[in-house]
Amino acid sequence: MMNFFNNCTALITGASSGLGEEFSHQLAPYASRLILVARRIDRLDALATHLRELHPNLDVRIFAADVTLAERRHALADWLTDEDIEVNFLVNNAGLGDHGPFDTSDWERVENMIDLNITSLTHLTHLLVQGMLENGRGAILNVSSVAGFFPIPQMAVYSATKAYVTSFSEALAMELRPQGISVTALCPGPVPTEFFDTATRPGEEDQASHFKTFPAIVVSAQEAVRTGLEAVARERARVIPGPLLAAAVAVALMIPFCIVRRILAMNSAKL
Ligand SMILES: NC(=O)c1ccc[n+]([C@@H]2O[C@H](COP(=O)([O-])OP(=O)(O)OC[C@H]3O[C@@H](n4cnc5c(N)ncnc54)[C@H](OP(=O)(O)O)[C@@H]3O)[C@@H](O)[C@H]2O)c1
Repeated sequence: MMNFFNNCTALITGASSGLGEEFSHQLAPYASRLILVARRIDRLDALATHLRELHPNLDVRIFAADVTLAERRHALADWLTDEDIEVNFLVNNAGLGDHGPFDTSDWERVENMIDLNITSLTHLTHLLVQGMLENGRGAILNVSSVAGFFPIPQMAVYSATKAYVTSFSEALAMELRPQGISVTALCPGPVPTEFFDTATRPGEEDQASHFKTFPAIVVSAQEAVRTGLEAVARERARVIPGPLLAAAVAVALMIPFCIVRRILAMNSAKL
């Protein structure tokens, strides 16, 4: 299955931690080149050094960028052109959340989340899909969330951004498949990464405590990434890691929305 990624050139956003770091590790034995993108250059440097030691034939490049900035996205695309690097696997993974009531949210934080989860993902896809189309092959993996299937109170903007990511990916998968490009939305539930630390507002209860509340649906970063890569290799349009969560979502999607809304509202009171 993983042979699908043999000799690919993969660009991974948000490679400095969590799922992005794990994507880098799982792709490294197969890819010929990895391009690691995030803001924390020290983390990217350490990861690149580690991967080069483990896989001496792998070409690992780093590009430190805040991808919410349009000029940095253009700079990344220009740098790839200058270096004659053709990306044939794009992993749009960088993303962040914000937990708490919408009315008390910090606007800069909300805007940053929309810029990262929606605008940057869409723009990077737009910039890199052109090269894939010229070569007649390529794959795009957009990291969405199970939160994208439902409007989640206390995470209203985050779940809306992920609804966008899943919808965008599904439409693009249909549009690009005849041209040899596969698009997959990876929709994880809770995964223990730095995500919940980032999503927790200053002075609020650490959202990572939800791992204790719903232990059965928690999957490791290793499993989430493996599931995502297998789905790409199978050219699936979307996938939910963890059989229990996948089954629960499948059932929930069959329930009339008026009932789902009540359940979500009840849970919101507990969050
Ligand atoms: N963990 C979960 O439970 C979970 C569940 C469902 C979906 N997801 C999704 O999974 C993806 C990865 O999250 P994670 O769980 O791995 O969280 P994480 O450990 O917090 O990783 C987030 C990554 O995004 C990067 N990033 C944040 N802002 C950025 C910016 N402006 N420019 C460039 N890179 C930026 C961070 O790097 P720097 O800070 O170095 O820039 C980091 O590498 C996200 O899209 C998230 O929504 C996570």
